[in-house]
Amino acid sequence: MKRKAIILWFLVIASFLIACTDTQKLQQETDEQEKITPLVKDDDSIRIGFSMDTLLEERWLRDRDLFKEEVESLGAEVKIVAANGDDALQISQAEALISSGIDLLVIVPHNAEATAAIVHKAHLAGIQVIAYDRLVKNANLDLYVSFDNEQVGEMQAKAITAIVPKGNYVIIGGAITDNNAHLLKKGVFNVLRPYIERGDINIVYDQWTKDWTPANAKTNMEEALHTTKGQIDAVIAANDATAGGVIQALAAKGLAGIVPVAGQDADLAGVQRIVSGDQTMTVYKPIRMLTQEVAKLAVAMAKGEEVPAFQKVNNGKIEVPSVLLSPIAVNVHNIESTVIADGFHSSEDIYKDTSK
Ligand code: BGC
Repeated sequence: MKRKAIILWFLVIASFLIACTDTQKLQQETDEQEKITPLVKDDDSIRIGFSMDTLLEERWLRDRDLFKEEVESLGAEVKIVAANGDDALQISQAEALISSGIDLLVIVPHNAEATAAIVHKAHLAGIQVIAYDRLVKNANLDLYVSFDNEQVGEMQAKAITAIVPKGNYVIIGGAITDNNAHLLKKGVFNVLRPYIERGDINIVYDQWTKDWTPANAKTNMEEALHTTKGQIDAVIAANDATAGGVIQALAAKGLAGIVPVAGQDADLAGVQRIVSGDQTMTVYKPIRMLTQEVAKLAVAMAKGEEVPAFQKVNNGKIEVPSVLLSPIAVNVHNIESTVIADGFHSSEDIYKDTSK
């Protein structure tokens, strides 16, 4: 009896080991097939690839231009591509960058999960990957540099609860495929939870916004207005683009400027709406700081230099070395000392189209 059990155990362990070896073999074969052979450079220049999700929003144009400026000021080159929110296109564009002989890849993922494939392929070609602003999940990412997105959500909820400590709240989230949208929501609920538990705040609508578009946010807000029969006291929108859609829907019901709305990014239109009274606040993230940090680290890593120890953020697979910068809450009282003082927007631009 005992011998039978030992044999049985032996067989179970042996078949487990064989299965593991088979999986490993299969992975090696797939890796071999997928492996991109990068072009060999004939000079010692440093080339950084920058794979962006989209250029549709105001902030990403700024990210693109400032990142190029920063990388070039460090004597390196940058190749930039944008995927228009298309996962397959982002993967093929990144593959093209890898084969073109870049030294390091910086990526703004459209889809936090889908882009893990890019990290894997870059590594097979011996190229390190930095996630820019948005985390790549479940990948052996080399570095993640962003703003503290949970803090962004906390800032939004603190600003709105200071004005509306009781009432019906609508949450217009970002894209479900973007890890930042989840972090923002986490931050928002960190602040709202005690209010909800006391029964002071009711979440009457809470929805993600596909691809963060104003049009989808507007549709969500119309649905929120419809299902609540307009009984809404405050809205937390994930960014200024979605806040724009929300405010259009509110305006159609004569509620713009009456229902407080939070956003993020300090987009020109968002700041103008704060001045005109249609939007309550935004969260300013100095993009120049982000581009400077990423450019500095990307060029150093591409040169094979040691970079300092970082914070860690878990991406579902590893603890990713990370740098998280601090966002700044902006309302009608500190526009001057924040976005204008920083040269993010000029006061002419901010005040030109508003009534003030
Ligand atoms: C960024 C936001 C941006 C949003 C939509 C997020 O990942 O952190 O700044 O507004 O994407 O593009």
